[in-house]
Amino acid sequence: MQSGVGSVGSLEDGKVPYARTTIQSTRPLPLRLLSFLLLFLVVVSMYSFLSLYMSLFLKIQNVIPVVQSRIQPCVQEPRTLEKWIRPPSYLIHTMTDSELFWRASFVPRIKEYPFKRTPKIAFMFLTRGPLPMAPLWDKFFKGNEKLYSIYIHSSPSYHPDFPTSSAFYGRQIPSQDTEWGMMSLCDGERRLLANALLDISNEWFVLLSEACIPLKNFSIVYEYISRSRFSFIGAFDEPGQYGRGRYNEKMSPEVNLTEWRKGSQWFELSRKLAVDIVQDSVYYPKFKQFCRALCYVDEHYFQTMLSIQSPHLLANRSLTWVVWPRHKPHPATFGKADINENFFKKISEGKPCTYNNQLTSLCFLFARKFAPSSLEPLLEHSLEYLGF
Ligand SMILES: *[C@@H]1O[C@H](CO)[C@@H](O)[C@H](O)[C@H]1NC(C)=O
Ligand SMILES: *[C@@H]1O[C@H](CO)[C@@H](O)[C@H](O)[C@H]1NC(C)=O
Ligand SMILES: *[C@@H]1O[C@H](CO)[C@@H](O)[C@H](O)[C@H]1NC(C)=O
Repeated sequence: MQSGVGSVGSLEDGKVPYARTTIQSTRPLPLRLLSFLLLFLVVVSMYSFLSLYMSLFLKIQNVIPVVQSRIQPCVQEPRTLEKWIRPPSYLIHTMTDSELFWRASFVPRIKEYPFKRTPKIAFMFLTRGPLPMAPLWDKFFKGNEKLYSIYIHSSPSYHPDFPTSSAFYGRQIPSQDTEWGMMSLCDGERRLLANALLDISNEWFVLLSEACIPLKNFSIVYEYISRSRFSFIGAFDEPGQYGRGRYNEKMSPEVNLTEWRKGSQWFELSRKLAVDIVQDSVYYPKFKQFCRALCYVDEHYFQTMLSIQSPHLLANRSLTWVVWPRHKPHPATFGKADINENFFKKISEGKPCTYNNQLTSLCFLFARKFAPSSLEPLLEHSLEYLGF
């Protein structure tokens, strides 16, 4: 045994004499160890006996929860309804799109909520990099914390650094690269919807970009959206090359020419329609395969699909103000020179529209689209003129 231990010592440090001396000195250790173990055993058994006695005693005194709480793990799953209604505390997760969409498509079958639910608006920002209008939005959101949530989908290479005081702090969702006019853009929008659906209090879903501004204060926006019987997405049947001309016959029978719709991608949708988009597997492959490049899938996919499935739920107009020049495929971009006092007057005039089947002059809650060079003067003017 001695040589055995010695050889282990020599294997470890190559010093046989040293190993020998250590064997000499460790000989009394087993005895010491034994007595220590014995003492330990006695203490443990005494402790368990004592605690048993104590718990019995305490049970009589009705303070058992104190004892119980001491042996529970630090991180605890709530065992109440809270577990199902509390929004995720971190937006970052490792779910794949298919895992996320599956999870986001859970819908309760009982329509009445067994708790007090304050419906929120999910403001979803589809951006490339920074959000230059964040100071304006921060002012817009301030004081309404219970009524909104924010989600940002940006280029995965972009790492935002919002101050902790900003409403945008920590609101980035796991993102992937998107390309304008391609299905990857719709994928980004579906990802935003799916992440926002994980919070059961989100009832309305607004898609915005870094070049969007609010035109009205939060109270007006909330009231307008929450009292509307319809969801707001531009969806119209346009003849000509930029409308029906983008339809591909291979999409039938799922989509035929008369059902083909066009509209800007900047929508406001109810929770029901958000789930419909996230769970769609009928129209998605058709659009992915047959609406490519100059088809601009983001101007047709949701617009056409929702018009087929739920035409009675759509206002067929967007809440986001843009100027569509005639005979041009895309909306106009405003530059630095366009931003002045008159600009805001011009936006608020507009032509009348319908709201819950009644005529109204308040048609737009947001505006775009602004060139990067115009954002600084825009921020300055809007802080001044919008008054919130
Ligand atoms: C929002 O704007 C409306 C109209 O401009 C105004 O009457 C209302 O007081 C504003 N609400 C808040 C909370 O500032
Ligand atoms: C388009 O599809 C609808 C329903 O699927 C059908 O009723 C209609 O006849 C179709 N229209 C054409 C032009 O094929
Ligand atoms: C929107 O358009 C659909 C047809 O695509 C129609 O059925 C629906 O009534 C329209 N909505 C409103 C509010 O007019």
